[in-house]
Amino acid sequence: MDVAIIGTGYVGLTTGVCLALLGHEVRCHDVDPGRMDKLARGRPPIYEPGMEQAMRAAARKRSLHFVSELADAVRGAKAVFLSVGTPSLPDGDIDLSYLEAAARQIAPLLAPFTTVVVKSTVTVGSCRRLEQIIRDVRGAGDFAVAANPEFLREGSAIDDFMHPDRIIIGSDDERATTTLKELYGPLVARTDAPVLVTSAENAEMVKHAANAFLAMKIGFINEVADLCERAGADVTTVAKGIGLDQRIGPAFLQAGPGFGGSCFPKDARAFAATGRRNGVPQSLVETLIEGNDRRKTALARRIAFKANLRKGAVVAVLGVAFKAATDDVRESPALAFIPALQDQGFVVRAFDPQAMPTAAKELPDVNWCSDAYEAATGADAVVILTDWKNFTELDLGRLSERMKGSTLFDFRNILQPEAVAACGMTYFGVGRAGLPGDKRQYVEKRAVAAAN
Ligand code: NAI
Repeated sequence: MDVAIIGTGYVGLTTGVCLALLGHEVRCHDVDPGRMDKLARGRPPIYEPGMEQAMRAAARKRSLHFVSELADAVRGAKAVFLSVGTPSLPDGDIDLSYLEAAARQIAPLLAPFTTVVVKSTVTVGSCRRLEQIIRDVRGAGDFAVAANPEFLREGSAIDDFMHPDRIIIGSDDERATTTLKELYGPLVARTDAPVLVTSAENAEMVKHAANAFLAMKIGFINEVADLCERAGADVTTVAKGIGLDQRIGPAFLQAGPGFGGSCFPKDARAFAATGRRNGVPQSLVETLIEGNDRRKTALARRIAFKANLRKGAVVAVLGVAFKAATDDVRESPALAFIPALQDQGFVVRAFDPQAMPTAAKELPDVNWCSDAYEAATGADAVVILTDWKNFTELDLGRLSERMKGSTLFDFRNILQPEAVAACGMTYFGVGRAGLPGDKRQYVEKRAVAAAN
């Protein structure tokens, strides 16, 4: 099938590459000329494992094209995917302006009959609004707008796209649903993924409710972690015990520094805003957002207390991406955590395997280092903030030798506390009191609780 992709970020590029690999003829377009230039040279503008190889494979099939003129992308396409950003407005609702602009731009170019596929995450009712915008330009009848939310995760985007848990098609136009079923046919044949065909409103709601729910799992386990720390339990074991219940499952039960990224915070805010707008406040989600925002700065204050850091102390932060295997720093915990350290008068040295160029634009006063050991040099404390696999393989002895102090905060619980202690460092995880041999942490926590 002839397909156009408008917006080649994490979602658009993955969708384009994967649809091309599935045998479709795909033309991708983006308004960002720098991005188009890289793509035309076969280089992904984002860090995503496997993307470059997948682009090469699609190029060999001659089924993936990057075109700088919008008209060249849209002309003749049977399905036009809109995968542009939907950032937050100040009140938490989504900013639909990028999608609205894209809808206006493609409207005069569509060939009859075209399905406009909204891949971007949108609040309920948005597809109807986009439909109206296109109808205002070309009248009704020769196009339909369908919601087709995407559930991929950065860091495993291609695999997630190619092995979806479900495909959601939201449209009441039979021609549009037939087009999308045909488009995903090769994927469904390979994976047996369930396809839910429903209204655009339901599809829009599924995506936001799903993300709000996943974010709540993270928010919940983070609060459990804080309780574990006070009460002398280890959240990693508690989470394992909870997750073994098939009704709950183990995913998204890793305690940490709070959720970030381009989706969960924004989508939770949008879901809450939708609730307010409809007079049905989503109180669980409202509380979740507040707690998650507070957590990032609270952890920065916690390390000062635990490591007894004074003004001028040096803190090494390992990891600034919002999670491992991506260079995305949008709403990363680091963006709140590092300024909160600096506000206390600490000097921050930092390293991330992929995200430093993007993070440097947001965090100008950080000393960026070429690896974890350089970051740790002269540091009073080291903090692991992103769960990069490299950090699980650190030479802890070497790290400890480079440091001035001896406290290591593992805010992703990825290290073995015993291994850290064996190298002469004091280990603090998240919610990990009650570890064997770690009574001191527990006692200290009780002292803090008593002091409060
Ligand atoms: P992104 O910011 O990485 O990419 C958006 C791209 O759209 C940019 O390259 C921008 O230049 C381009 N663009 C904006 N207006 C345009 C226009 N009029 N014509 C052509 N290109 C235009 O965004 P990302 O992360 O790919 O997200 C896109 C949507 O997908 C958002 O709604 C997001 O919530 C949703 N989503 C994102 C996921 C993720 O993991 N990043 C996962 C699932 C959904």
